[in-house]
Amino acid sequence: MDSCYAIELRNITKRFGEVVANRDISIGLKRGQILSLLGENGSGKTTLMNMLAGIYLPDEGQILADGEPISIRSPKDSFRYGIGMIHQHYKLVDVFTAAQNIVLGLNEGGLNIKETNTRVQEICDRYGFDIDPAKKVYDMSVSEKQTVEIIKVLYRGAEILILDEPTAVLTPQETQKLFAILRNMRDDNKAIVIITHKLNEVLELSDEVAVLRKGTYIGTVKTAETTAQALTDMMVGHAVALNIDRPFNQNQTERLTLKNVTCYDHEQVKKLDNVTFTVNGGEILGVAGIAGSGQKELLESIAGLYPVAEGSIEYTPPEGDVKNLVGMSPTQIHKAGVALAFVPEDRLGMGLVGSMGMTGNMMLRSWKNGFGPFVDRKGPQELANFIWNDLEVVTPSTEFPVRRMSGGNVQKVLVGREIASHPSVLMSAYPVRGLDINTSYAIYNLMTEQKMNGVAVLFVGEDLDVLLELCDRILVLCGGKVSGIVDARTATKDQIGLLMTSVGGKEEA
Ligand SMILES: Nc1ncnc2c1ncn2[C@@H]1O[C@H](COP(=O)(O)OP(=O)(O)OP(=O)(O)O)[C@@H](O)[C@H]1O
Ligand SMILES: [Mg+2]
Repeated sequence: MDSCYAIELRNITKRFGEVVANRDISIGLKRGQILSLLGENGSGKTTLMNMLAGIYLPDEGQILADGEPISIRSPKDSFRYGIGMIHQHYKLVDVFTAAQNIVLGLNEGGLNIKETNTRVQEICDRYGFDIDPAKKVYDMSVSEKQTVEIIKVLYRGAEILILDEPTAVLTPQETQKLFAILRNMRDDNKAIVIITHKLNEVLELSDEVAVLRKGTYIGTVKTAETTAQALTDMMVGHAVALNIDRPFNQNQTERLTLKNVTCYDHEQVKKLDNVTFTVNGGEILGVAGIAGSGQKELLESIAGLYPVAEGSIEYTPPEGDVKNLVGMSPTQIHKAGVALAFVPEDRLGMGLVGSMGMTGNMMLRSWKNGFGPFVDRKGPQELANFIWNDLEVVTPSTEFPVRRMSGGNVQKVLVGREIASHPSVLMSAYPVRGLDINTSYAIYNLMTEQKMNGVAVLFVGEDLDVLLELCDRILVLCGGKVSGIVDARTATKDQIGLLMTSVGGKEEA
């Protein structure tokens, strides 16, 4: 039999009660190769890989290592076969340092800090990581935490690395750094599996792509011989149009005007610097910028979640008088019709209760707002049904615990809930993180629909191609300042790139 595979899955089936998460799947992982695992939200990717990580046992089928049948009954077994998995949610201990986390659970007869540091340094040098072993996890960025997780499995001698959506929460720059490291590992003859929804990443990085659809295996293709369109069609099962419709709304009216808004963080560092702009009802205003240029502070200060030191935020509701939002509480602002759908790094941490189903989570939102704008019109059940159908949430019922839904489906609930609250200003940051292509387009269409209904949409995105296709205008932030506002129908990527790196797009003197 073919034993060119480091690990082979043969005819694997995994059920959760009624749900068949994986049906008769056969896939092989080769050394010296990066394999992308592709499929829509809920298609069974995480479940399949969790069986290699020792988290679930298959109901049927076989796993082989170098051609020999093996049984993986625990994460310990998984390590023994050289498998290391980096999960969608990180599992580090916050109060420990990088080095402490890396050796956690290893019984090496006491921790020798010096020796650990030397070995960690070796791994860093070999693959191009850059970390401070003495840094505490609570002081780390997401990207640093991810680095620690990867070094941790390498430290344990992993030869087969599985990364579940590692780029979902990384900036484009961090993603490029990670890819360089993964290429080094491939050249070191490791077998690598990466799960990602971003087709440009699949095409850029992997050698082969395996596609799942609704729990079944569709096939594996060589990356060099395929295209984004072909992969999408394989994933979805029918032809999908990959373009965003951008109608123009003739009836635009002033909705939100920021005048000279300045904000400081708790260390008195200026985060927003004299920001002035208007967003109209009936348009999508994109916000672009290098990570940390003030995007988060901008949306949060409008939502009342970040203190405004100077300036005003004038809100003109569709009916009624102009209000200054500065000084109002987040609840008052939300009630006035300004909604923030911010997709956080920790999806379950953000106002969703894992043990409750979709309906319960809808009610939660309305209770918290003392019966907000939408609850009068639609019951939570109806809302849950709307999100379930319109965003095609994969779940057996609206009562199924959110915690057990796949990562992307949890996110649909989060974004859908804000859109469904019928705001007159909809602010959204990274709403398609972790969403498959089809659903990403469904979210873009929903935002456009909102805009055509007269809503002012403020959209913080990281993909310039999408911003240029979806938005009417794009505001570029640079170091907390408005670097420029461009017409998205005529602007170019280069022009925006220049505005991102220097205010006004001019070289610094
Ligand atoms: N512990 C569990 N209990 C019940 N059902 C589960 C459990 N884990 C996963 N499922 C179900 O199995 C199916 C596949 O889920 P899985 O998490 O593998 O999808 P995925 O392809 O990783 O999706 P995503 O891209 O959204 O992360 C889903 O319908 C999910 O609800
Ligand atoms: Mg998943």
